[in-house]
Amino acid sequence: MPVADGFWERWKRIEAFPERVQNPLELIALCEATWGANSFLEIGSKRGGTLWCVAAHMAKGARIVSVDLHHPPFYPDLSAIADDLRNESFDVHTVRGYSQSVTTQAAVDALGPFEWVFIDGNHTRECAGNDWARYGSKATKACAFHDIAWDQTGRPFHGCGEVFNELAKSYAHDVVVVDPAEQMGIGIIWK
Ligand SMILES: C[S@@+](CC[C@H](N)C(=O)[O-])C[C@H]1O[C@@H](n2cnc3c(N)ncnc32)[C@H](O)[C@@H]1O
Repeated sequence: MPVADGFWERWKRIEAFPERVQNPLELIALCEATWGANSFLEIGSKRGGTLWCVAAHMAKGARIVSVDLHHPPFYPDLSAIADDLRNESFDVHTVRGYSQSVTTQAAVDALGPFEWVFIDGNHTRECAGNDWARYGSKATKACAFHDIAWDQTGRPFHGCGEVFNELAKSYAHDVVVVDPAEQMGIGIIWK
């Protein structure tokens, strides 16, 4: 079944959130890329919308790990999505913490390794670079970065885009950007 056949039903839940954090067509591309994956780590999950959609096409019982600060306005939605994914038999773990902390990294390492890592936390060059060093570089299949789009001069809007562009010089990669002006876009670094 093509991803898009089941995606839009799943997307309805995300669309109802107060803010939009994903372009659905870009998310479909990520769902297609991660199809059948056995493990997925997301750094920065907010309400869990990406996890909800990506999981639908992962292997049954796959391990899904989310790292976030668990801000109160967003956490109830993430928690509900984690519970619903558990009910779908996924092996879900939510790690509350700052991705750069030793404690968080130890908790994540104990749950790894991961085929896929999706980096969507703090978008500064420094933090995205550290998330790559601590997590993305260890992905066995691919590491994707969110929000890598560029302005009219070709300069990335966010530091995470700079990190992606540098890695893209030495790794096979894919770029999925529907509309750069949305300042979103997904960049995939293949291992
Ligand atoms: C852009 S939102 C993530 C959206 C989510 N990936 C999605 O597609 O629905 C960024 C999230 O990253 C979290 N965050 C930012 N910096 C972080 C860090 N250093 N460690 C852990 N979480 C972080 C924030 O709490 C926020 O929920």
